[in-house]
Amino acid sequence: MPSDGRGSVRLFWGDARQLDGVPDRSVHLIVTSPPYPMIPQWDGVFRALGATDYDGMHAVLADAWAEAKRVLVPGGLLAVVIGDALRRLDGEFRLWPNHATTIVAAERLGLRPLPYVLWKKPTNRPNAFLGSGFLPPNAYVTLDCEYVLLFRSGPLRRFAAHDPARAASRFSRAERDRWFSQVWDDIRGAPQRTPAGRSGAFPPALADRLIRMFSVTGETVLDPFAGTGTTLWCAAGLGRDAIGVEWDEAIFRRLARTARAGGFLTPRPTRPDATAPRDAPGGRPPPRRPGGGTAARSR
Ligand SMILES: C[S@@+](CC[C@H](N)C(=O)[O-])C[C@H]1O[C@@H](n2cnc3c(N)ncnc32)[C@H](O)[C@@H]1O
Repeated sequence: MPSDGRGSVRLFWGDARQLDGVPDRSVHLIVTSPPYPMIPQWDGVFRALGATDYDGMHAVLADAWAEAKRVLVPGGLLAVVIGDALRRLDGEFRLWPNHATTIVAAERLGLRPLPYVLWKKPTNRPNAFLGSGFLPPNAYVTLDCEYVLLFRSGPLRRFAAHDPARAASRFSRAERDRWFSQVWDDIRGAPQRTPAGRSGAFPPALADRLIRMFSVTGETVLDPFAGTGTTLWCAAGLGRDAIGVEWDEAIFRRLARTARAGGFLTPRPTRPDATAPRDAPGGRPPPRRPGGGTAARSR
């Protein structure tokens, strides 16, 4: 860890489905948010990853969850921020239950589902209802929660009595009472606009909370769908070592620039590939490239 108490940040230009450079059983916590299946902004990404329908999109994500399981230490936790989708298909408007499908997929991979969080974002548009005005029965309940799904890989982690890093990572009673309740309504969504379009970022407050809830100072936190790097900057700021993987070249370049501008230590576990982006602090080109310039769109 650098002398200012911050952890390191290591970046890979790569694919969440194949975390080369991240050894088996080396990550204590994953805090991530994938592209959401059936949200139109992510269609181009999924198409480039070989998926054009709901099941195919979840098959892509399942490969990422399998890789997450590989790199987690026994007892390590996976936190997945995901929302359901509403979309008309073949003339029918319906819900696509991403949270439920993700739980089933992760459980099939041997990840243990734990009680999850409903993240109810305070909204500036309380009256944004869908459907038939004031007449029953064709109006729709507003989709105003996302989910923080939680999974454990293997048995509970054990620590020596009075482990100093664990003791230093303690949270207060007030924090415990608020954080470990099932509905979070005190965290606003992050601003989404970037020069390249909507980012799909979650807010630092969400990442900070999850990192403090489920990891200990000095441990390793991974985001395999790094995006703007929210998890990484929060983890490093909390004295954890962070690893970020991002597949979109333009987004990866911005991540690398932000890491450098923030003065984050970026040790290189592998030799940077000659074809990696020039300003990458580490990394390799991904096995598959985003197609048609659509990959930077977000929800
Ligand atoms: C919902 S955004 C993540 C936002 C992030 N939590 C933040 O706060 O900025 C999903 C990200 O995953 C990236 N992505 C999509 N498919 C990927 C893959 N197979 N491997 C790694 N990253 C991928 C997208 O380019 C996008 O940046």
